[in-house]
Amino acid sequence: MDKNFALFSGSSNPSLAEEMAKFLDVKLGQVELKRFVDGENYVNYSESVRGLDIYIVQSTCNPQNDNIMELLIMIDAAKRAAAERITCVIPYYGYGKQDRKINDREPITAKLVAKLLGSAGAEKVLTMDLHSDQVQGFFDIRSDFLYASGPLMNYFTKKHGNKNLIVVAPDVGASKRARAYAKILGTEIAIIDKRRPRQNQSIVMNLVGDVSGKTALLVDDEINTGGTLVNAAEALLKNGAKEVYAIGSHGVFAGDALEKLEKSPIKEVIVTNSIPMKRKSSKIMVVSVAPLMAEAIKRMHENKSISKMLHQ
Ligand code: R5P
Repeated sequence: MDKNFALFSGSSNPSLAEEMAKFLDVKLGQVELKRFVDGENYVNYSESVRGLDIYIVQSTCNPQNDNIMELLIMIDAAKRAAAERITCVIPYYGYGKQDRKINDREPITAKLVAKLLGSAGAEKVLTMDLHSDQVQGFFDIRSDFLYASGPLMNYFTKKHGNKNLIVVAPDVGASKRARAYAKILGTEIAIIDKRRPRQNQSIVMNLVGDVSGKTALLVDDEINTGGTLVNAAEALLKNGAKEVYAIGSHGVFAGDALEKLEKSPIKEVIVTNSIPMKRKSSKIMVVSVAPLMAEAIKRMHENKSISKMLHQ
């Protein structure tokens, strides 16, 4: 990387940022991130960023509000220190699920966060596997979107192959993602009709497609409470599937999700390191997206095509 480039990390996912730095063959920039006694964030770049094209890595995962605020303050500090261009690298885009109003008088937080990043002074955003594609349109600044399907499928097929496989969307919203996986893996898809009677609770209503005797691979954007995947796996086995695996691009693992998945009939759950795992679990395999994100950062800095890289 040339002298105009610098990579910094917020405090949400330093190990992923460190891995990206290794792939880019650079040292992570030094920045002081701390809290005042009253809880307010303090940010101070320990080196000059004047005239630089800087990239700030921050997943806006739990604690979402703290991580978003820290990112905004990092952008502000860099802007005031005369950085030439600021790019937010957000492996996991928190608040992205509230992307439309379902009930009256609700917010659209996915849009609000996008607006805040631009208002703070970011010129570009790089993120991965958004909850829905429509969120792309919420950014008024330049933005690039990556898909973790490459590294995730690579891991899955190397270990399990694609014989007798069927890709399953755990809800209708995931069917586009499932189709994309199935196209590359050369398999059929099945779709589960999921309903949410209330927040964080899901029930399986119907299954569209024939899974009998098949190895089912559930694919979803994120695993939150784990309810969607566990219920889907049980329904698949009831409908004759031989075994069930699951891919979730982002391992949120809220509440007792890990225990739930541990006890579930799912054989292996594969996620990326977009969110650092707080606890280990024998069933969870974490695939790194550092090479994918690092290559995208390099191309952004050098103004080279990212779509070419994704289609390779
Ligand atoms: C929902 O529409 C998303 O795509 C995921 O299916 C959902 O966030 C998973 O949540 P949970 O693990 O709590 O069922």
